[in-house]
Amino acid sequence: MQFTIQVNGAPHRVDVDGETPLLWVLRDTLDLKGTKFGCGAAQCGACTVHMDGHPIRSCQTPIAAVGNAAITTIEAIGETKVGRNVQAAWIDLDVPQCGYCQAGQIMSAAALLVRVPAPTDQDINAAMSGNVCRCATYTRIRAAIKQAAAAGSA
Ligand code: FES
Ligand code: FES
Repeated sequence: MQFTIQVNGAPHRVDVDGETPLLWVLRDTLDLKGTKFGCGAAQCGACTVHMDGHPIRSCQTPIAAVGNAAITTIEAIGETKVGRNVQAAWIDLDVPQCGYCQAGQIMSAAALLVRVPAPTDQDINAAMSGNVCRCATYTRIRAAIKQAAAAGSA
């Protein structure tokens, strides 16, 4: 079945089964490999992308449910001011260890900072609790979110 989805500001026509998770359309059809597969069950957050600015788990989002929503992936988040600030803070504080979870972490953090420009620890806990890091980089993630928040309000 054919679908036209909006990804990173451009329309893409794809021909896949309607039940196909958005994650696999991004990775396998559109060759956007930055979004990662972790659990496939909405439990880890590695596959997080934005749908109309909200963080979603692309492993559990069938392509038929995407419609005309604007999908943003890690490949384009740096085109927004908040995304740039988040990525700069991630680099500055050397957040990643193995790196596997970090695209999802950045997408959740960027969505948080758009919604809450100066988040408290509680806000960060609530927004980031669905993003698991097996390397336990949580302390640096929190520091980077606060640094990006400070940069955004400077
Ligand atoms: S791969 Fe989607 S939440 Fe884990
Ligand atoms: S940096 Fe390795 S899983 Fe998070």
